[in-house]
Formats: sequence, structure tokens, C-alpha cells
Amino acid sequence: MPYIRKIVTVGHPALRKVAKKVDPKEIWDPLFQQLIDDMFETMYAAPGVGLAAPQVDVSKRFFVMDVGEDDDHPDGGRYVVINPKIDLTDEEVEMTEGCLSVPGYVGEVSRFNHVAVSGLDRDGRKIRLEGKGLFAQALQHEIDHLNGVLYIDKAKNVRLPQTKEEEEIAESAAS
Ligand code: NI
Repeated sequence: MPYIRKIVTVGHPALRKVAKKVDPKEIWDPLFQQLIDDMFETMYAAPGVGLAAPQVDVSKRFFVMDVGEDDDHPDGGRYVVINPKIDLTDEEVEMTEGCLSVPGYVGEVSRFNHVAVSGLDRDGRKIRLEGKGLFAQALQHEIDHLNGVLYIDKAKNVRLPQTKEEEEIAESAAS
């Protein structure tokens, strides 16, 4: 059974390390599969839309994500991306975001509005995810986590939420 892991917060050294690549052979390890299930459980319980392994004190290059439905992903969906690499970007836009490891705050970050990311899924198969808006934002936010980068490093004005919309980002759309 999956269980909820502790999400580490800013100040914890795991958030500042460059995470190590996952050896594809490790994907088949039942403990690795358990970790993925635990990370989904932890993300949904938070609640959040993405969670990177360093946020549960595991310095490995993968994350889980579920931003719900959007135009490009009408079925929504749970995604796991192992050893992700961004291979398409376009223009940058300002987006408001929050982070489960910086609880209660939001800030404005410049993100690519459209990205494609390739990597491996939890079965070790090659995958490529592509999306815009929140989907693209979450992908970039999670990959930053794998590089020891937090959104507060890039954000213009980290602040307590000032509007209902910002509260929702801080409380349920953080990643
Ligand atoms: Ni985060």
C-alpha cells in the first residue's frame, strides 16, 4: 500500500542538490515502484499538481505530475517522468506559482508557455510529454527541483496570497 511521505521544505539540503540520473535497471526495483506510488499518494494528499523526488528527500531525477484536464490532455492523467529532458520551448510568459516545499507562498516566475519533455515512464518506456500553460509550467517547475532550483530563486515577488486565485495556487496547485 502506498503511504504519504514527508515533504521537505526550504532549508532542507535535499532541495539544493543536483539529483542523480536514475539507472534504467532500477525502474524495475519494487522499492522504486513503491516510491512512485508513495509520491502520487503524497502529492494528492498535499494536495498538489506535481512532486519531484528531492521533495521527499530522494535525490534522483524523476517526478510525478497530475495537473488534471486541459485542451491538450482531455483525459487529464497521472504522469511519471524519469530522467527528463526539455526538448522544445517557445516564448516566455509570467506565471504565478507555488511550491509544496515553500508552503503558503506564491510568486511570479517567467516560464516557457509551451514545452515538450522526453524521458522514461515507470515501465522504462520512452515518453514525450508536450503541453502549454499549467502543464508546461509544472514540467519546468519539477525539472528545476531536480537541479536544486526552487521557484523562489527566480520569482519576482514571493508573497502571501493576496487573491482567491493566488490562494488556490498556494493551497492546491503547488508542485
Ligand atoms: Ni515545488
